[in-house]
Amino acid sequence: MKQIVISSLEETNELAQKIASLLQGDGLLCLSGDLGAGKTTFTKALGKALGIDDVITSPTFNILKIYEGDIPLYHIDAYRLEGLSQDLGFEEVFDETGVKVVEWYDYIADILPKERLEINIALDKDNRVFQIQAIGKKYEDMEEVL
Ligand SMILES: Nc1ncnc2c1ncn2[C@@H]1O[C@H](COP(=O)(O)OP(=O)(O)OP(=O)(O)O)[C@@H](O)[C@H]1O
Ligand SMILES: [Mg+2]
Repeated sequence: MKQIVISSLEETNELAQKIASLLQGDGLLCLSGDLGAGKTTFTKALGKALGIDDVITSPTFNILKIYEGDIPLYHIDAYRLEGLSQDLGFEEVFDETGVKVVEWYDYIADILPKERLEINIALDKDNRVFQIQAIGKKYEDMEEVL
C-alpha cells in the first residue's frame, strides 16, 4: 500500500500521467472513495494522459463509456448498480486490451478480475490522499515506482 498526498489538480494530472505510462496500454484501475472524492476527475486526467481528445464525463447514467484512442479507455461507474451486477453484459470489457477504470468497484466486485490497481481517494481537509494497493505482479511493479 502506498499513500500519495495530492493537493491540486496539477498533482492529480502528474499522478495520472505516471500511472498512464506505467500501464503500457493495458490494465485495470479500481477507484473508490466518497461522493465527490475525485474519481471522475482522476479518470479525466488519465484520459488526457492517454491522448484521448474526447471530453470524459461521468458515466453514471450510462454505466460504461468507451473512448477510442491509440489506447482505448473503458470507463465504468457502478454507482447505480449497487450490487445488481449479474448479467450486465459488459464483463467482456475486462478481456479487452486497453485501460479499464471502474468507479465504485465494490458494487461489481464479483465480475472484476482479481489483478488490478486499487486506488482509494480519501479527503483530508484540502488534500486528497490516494491510497494505492496493487494486486498482481504487474501492478506491484507499478506501485513500487509510484
Ligand atoms: N485533485 C483535485 N484538485 C481539486 N479539485 C478536485 C480534485 N479532484 C476532484 N476535484 C473536484 O471535486 C469535485 C468532485 O470530483 P469528482 O466528480 O471527480 O468526484 P467523484 O469521486 O467522481 O464523485 P462521484 O462519487 O459522485 O462519482 C469536482 O468539483 C472536482 O473539480
Ligand atoms: Mg464520479
